[in-house]
This record gives sequence, C-alpha cells and structure tokens, in this order.
Amino acid sequence: MDETLFGQIAQDLEKQGYSVRPGALPGGLATALLSHQHTISSERFKSAGIGRGDNYLGNESVRTDEVCWIAGDTAAEKAWLDWTANLQAFLNRRLFLGLFSFESHFAHYGAGDYYKRHYDAFKGEANRVLSVVAYFNSDWTSEDGGELVIYKDEHDNEGVKVAPVFGTLVTFLSEEFPHEVLPARRDRTSIAGWFRVNTSVADRVDPPS
Ligand code: OGA
Ligand code: MN
Repeated sequence: MDETLFGQIAQDLEKQGYSVRPGALPGGLATALLSHQHTISSERFKSAGIGRGDNYLGNESVRTDEVCWIAGDTAAEKAWLDWTANLQAFLNRRLFLGLFSFESHFAHYGAGDYYKRHYDAFKGEANRVLSVVAYFNSDWTSEDGGELVIYKDEHDNEGVKVAPVFGTLVTFLSEEFPHEVLPARRDRTSIAGWFRVNTSVADRVDPPS
C-alpha cells in the first residue's frame, strides 16, 4: 500500500520537484499523531525561530508558529519515524537521493499565525534536501486560510495553494521551492520534517538529526 503511494510521490518529485497528495497519510497513523499532539503540554511547544536549525534568517517576524521537536519516545512518534524511514529508503532506491537522516517537529499555528516566504535550505549548503509536511486539520474550509503556498521558483508570485487538510502530505526539494504559510484563522496543526544528506567531512561527524 505504502509502496504505491511512495511510487506516486517519487514520480511527482521526478516530474515537478514537489508532490501534493491528499489522504496520503495512513488513517491510523494520522489519528494517532493528532491525539498524541493534543497530549503534549503547551510548555513543550516553543516559539519557532529560536534555536535548532530554524534561525537562518534571525528574524522573529518571519514566523509566529510554535514547534515541538519529535524525538520518537511515544508509540505515535515512533510510528511516524518508521513511516518516514520507509519513505526515505524507497526514495533512495528509486531516485538515488542519498537521504541520510531525518528531523521533524509538530507545528502549531494559532489564529493569526503565519510563516512568511522562505526556503528550507540554501543552495550549496547541501544539507536539507527534501522537505515533508503532513497536515492534521479536520473540516478545514477556504475561510480558515492557513494555506501552504509553494512557489515554482524565486520569480513566481502566484504559487500553488495547499489547504492543510487532515491526511494531506506535501513533499518538495528543499533548495528549489520558496514557500509560505498564509495566516490561519483557526488552530492549525502540521508536522514539518526534513531529510538531510550526510555532510560529514574528514574529522567532523554530522549528528544524525
Ligand atoms: C516549515 C514550513 C509549512 C507548513 O516549517 O518550514 O514551511 O505548512 N511549514 O506547516
Ligand atoms: Mn518551510
């Protein structure tokens, strides 16, 4: 089952560099992640843009969401890491991407929260290669805003809008696609993750995530 979906994602990536797949997350996994997310205390969610990997731009007005990194210490988080490891292995076999490690976090956007246009990785840094975003919002309507907008390149100002609907999975090449999250009008939950290549050189060993 997953193999069929992974094959479609691989084809999308080959053809256009990004993939939008509604209903892609296995139902049980999506439900488990959503209930797990509800049990995480609000203190464990930290303002994004502070610390670990996310302060590229050093500008807090770029994003206003809160994030909680996934360490894999609950059944739901383990199931997510297993599933993304299978996706990683499949894409490495099919597309020779050389994906080496994975890091991900829950993100919570309250009403009014946004993430301005940005890249997840910069060319030449050969670090984050493939971005993945999964959505957990039931009954999302166009009035709720909060769309992910994927721009085809640096000149594109129109983009492709994706509603953050429960079960939708988006993947894209991290260096190729600027993207943003439009202001949400109600609570919006997602997981954003990044597959990285191994950037170890000589005497410096890259941490796995
Ligand atoms: C990110 C990101 C998109 C989303 O966290 O880098 O672009 O829709 N998230 O949550
Ligand atoms: Mn991003």
